[in-house]
Amino acid sequence: MKLRHGRRAFLGKVAQGVDACLAAALGGCLLSGCRVIPRSFQAPAGDTVKITLKNYPELNRPGGIVKVLVPVFRVIYVRRNGRKDSFDGISGVCTHQGGIVSPSGSGFRCPLHGSTYDGEGQNTGGPAPRPLKFFRVTAEGDDVILHLKEKIG
Ligand code: FES
Repeated sequence: MKLRHGRRAFLGKVAQGVDACLAAALGGCLLSGCRVIPRSFQAPAGDTVKITLKNYPELNRPGGIVKVLVPVFRVIYVRRNGRKDSFDGISGVCTHQGGIVSPSGSGFRCPLHGSTYDGEGQNTGGPAPRPLKFFRVTAEGDDVILHLKEKIG
């Protein structure tokens, strides 16, 4: 009986330790702005891509982001811009040598040579010579439309 109680107490302490580690990791992640892994989908060929908000509810909150895999342009991130209450279509192709950037903190980072971009797509570090390209995105009812033929900037 005593052994069983000791085992239960031991397992309880292990569980508390795991909870503390998860909380510390999550807190550290929030503080350091660690990498966000957005959901993604393959878009069919065409001039526009329709994203239904019901299927991607992350786009309902400021900063929510979805990775769209598209023919020709390869990767475009669609993100809800909370400051402007609109949507951004941000090319995921690094302007250095075409690596695919990933969200990192409030901006983006290229894994190939370490270029960094801020949340507005401006190149802020590494060898990237130019900002990321932007595409026009409009909201139409419950859908978000990414316009692949309309680059901005
Ligand atoms: S391709 Fe992105 S930093 Fe070189």
